[in-house]
Amino acid sequence: MNVAKIFMVSLAFAFAINANSVAQSGDAEAGEQKSITCAACHGANGNSPIAQFPKIAGQVPGYIAAQLAKFKSGERTDPIMGGLAGALSEQDMADLDAYYSRQQISDLFITADQEQQARAGEAIFRGGSAEFGVPACMGCHGPSGSGIPPNFPRLAGQHASYTETQLLAFKSGRRNSPIMNPIAFPLSAQQIKQLALYISALH
Ligand code: HEC
Ligand code: HEC
Repeated sequence: MNVAKIFMVSLAFAFAINANSVAQSGDAEAGEQKSITCAACHGANGNSPIAQFPKIAGQVPGYIAAQLAKFKSGERTDPIMGGLAGALSEQDMADLDAYYSRQQISDLFITADQEQQARAGEAIFRGGSAEFGVPACMGCHGPSGSGIPPNFPRLAGQHASYTETQLLAFKSGRRNSPIMNPIAFPLSAQQIKQLALYISALH
């Protein structure tokens, strides 16, 4: 290979790397345009008013794009999101991530008679359970549940029924995560309910 050829090859490489980094960095304004189809379920600004659909506003940067990629590849399965994510490019995912991570999540509140249940959840969130070998959730999700970018998602303010469904899915292995599967496995259905309730009202 002569010098000119090496130069051309390395130039092509430089462009490829450059194109890749452009695709990685999202454009929040483009993301807002693309979010119109998402709003039907995830609400305006990602604050879903319906407990069945997760809030995606204020998520840690990087997490939404990563989950969309998992829905697209089939690593995370959901009949609705699998189909929708299949149509998204890497750039779409990065733009949607940039938009939603800049939105403010709305607060949720619990009633006085849910207070005791939430307190039991708080104990596990803050201290884990030595008896069951469960680590404190705040170790990775942060003391206020606001997450640590890009891999540890925000949990605070999420609808309790969604958090409960996800923890049950991690427990049964229906949702695959080498980190969350062994953490959720020893939790009882009641502990999961308590955690989900506590997390919903965290802000
Ligand atoms: C028809 C309803 C519907 C529409 C439209 C929709 N979603 Fe979803 N989305 C869901 C449901 C249901 C789930 C929960 C899936 C599960 O249980 O794993 C979900 C989950 C997600 C998650 C995972 C959240 C988390 O905390 O892990 C992300 C991210 C997401 N959706 C982004 C989007 C984006 C971006 C769009 C628009 C391109 C979109 N969704 C459109 C119903 C919808
Ligand atoms: C060692 C770090 C670690 C600890 C400790 C931890 N988590 Fe997680 N958690 C993660 C990671 C990483 C993910 C993302 C999994 C994925 O990529 O799908 C996650 C995801 C989640 C999700 C899904 C969020 C969403 O929006 O999809 C919930 C709910 C959750 N964790 C709850 C908990 C609870 C409750 C505890 C404590 C009992 C806990 N986690 C402890 C690392 C941790």
